[in-house]
Amino acid sequence: MPSADELRDFQLTRAPAGFIDDPYPWYAALRAHDPVHALEGGGVFLSRYEDCLALYRDPRASSDKKAEFGPKLGQTPLYEHHTTSLVFNDPPLHTRVRRIILGALNQKAIARMEADVVRLVDRLLAEMAERRELDFIGAFAARIPIEVIGNLLDVPRSDRGPLRSWSVAILSGLEPRLTPAMHEAGNRAVSDFLAYLRTLVAERRKNPGDYDSDVLTRLIQGEKDGERLTETELLHQCIFLLNAGHETTTNLIGNGLWLLLARPEELARLRADPVLVPSAVEEMLRYEGPIQLNNRRLSAPMELGGRTLPEGTFVTIGIGAANRDPAQFPDPERFDVARKPNRHLAFGQGDHACAGMNVARMEGRVAFARLLARFPEIELAGEPLRDRRIRFRGFSRLPIRVK
Ligand code: HEM
Repeated sequence: MPSADELRDFQLTRAPAGFIDDPYPWYAALRAHDPVHALEGGGVFLSRYEDCLALYRDPRASSDKKAEFGPKLGQTPLYEHHTTSLVFNDPPLHTRVRRIILGALNQKAIARMEADVVRLVDRLLAEMAERRELDFIGAFAARIPIEVIGNLLDVPRSDRGPLRSWSVAILSGLEPRLTPAMHEAGNRAVSDFLAYLRTLVAERRKNPGDYDSDVLTRLIQGEKDGERLTETELLHQCIFLLNAGHETTTNLIGNGLWLLLARPEELARLRADPVLVPSAVEEMLRYEGPIQLNNRRLSAPMELGGRTLPEGTFVTIGIGAANRDPAQFPDPERFDVARKPNRHLAFGQGDHACAGMNVARMEGRVAFARLLARFPEIELAGEPLRDRRIRFRGFSRLPIRVK
């Protein structure tokens, strides 16, 4: 447990040694001793479940990031992207875009996607059986979301190659500490992505797809009788969608397997009772959530954790901290594949709650049900390589052996 002095100095922009490997002792100490922790620049970090939930649900919590990203990113492609996508906007743009996207992510649409995911997963498992030793991220975890999101926007398969590296570079622009190299890579990725999408959108305008299932066609045509998105708004929603469901779901699957391999008794429990797969996926999301932090800015003063925060306060929501709060989750440090209830915040909450949560859940469910059924033995075959970022949590390599 960090000392009181260490806790006072805690800053996300200067993460302490060991924080990336295991942030949870820090989160526990913050929850217990400093649940509304002051950050440099006048912001605060929330670590208690109750406070995070209250903020997510409060209309004073603005998602507009122009004030934060202006000084941090300058007038760059990265700034244009992150301040135009729906996730970093308030109504009316947010409401309009969210309705268009949600219309294509209903249960019927997800059931249609599931059939494709099952086929893909079985193909990947057959490849893994041939190879026996492999990197689980590259060979499996990252391959599923790219297929799902690529299909959702109907991006031709031959064009999907660069999507993952663009996604990583663009989302890295959201890290609390942005290096010049990350900034430059992010700008380049946005510019390259925009250039690619302009061609794809021009093509889709000429040959529209099915309005009910093709999200790109929906975004181009807008809501029936509603206002259309401008070209810039349209392109940035596409980039956001391609990114949102990509690295996050890869990390759900990678983190999930890593958790199971480190806890053979929970893995055995899941193998013995596959009905537990859906609750195991929720527990993976709670215990090692792919997104650890969200942000809001207060548009009016608000009381949180017994403190009154002034208008304009920049608040960091500690999703990973809230998800281990003993006031909400009994025995929170225990990874329990059968945990119920499990009202974790891995998908956020409130008006901006993840629009693709049921898509991600379906991917996780199919991936683990079929993986465990296909291989009676799975073990680590080398040291996992952890992604060294704070907002996003996952592995860039997870070497395994299957039998
Ligand atoms: C395990 C995988 C995923 C995780 C952990 C995750 C997490 C999140 C979180 C925490 C937010 C809220 C951000 C905020 O409030 O500021 C969010 C928003 C969003 N996510 Fe996901 N996500 C995942 C997968 C997906 C997938 C597969 C899709 C698309 C098919 C998707 C689409 C979106 C969209 C469109 C939003 C913006 C919603 C809005 O602003 O109204 N996500 N996601």
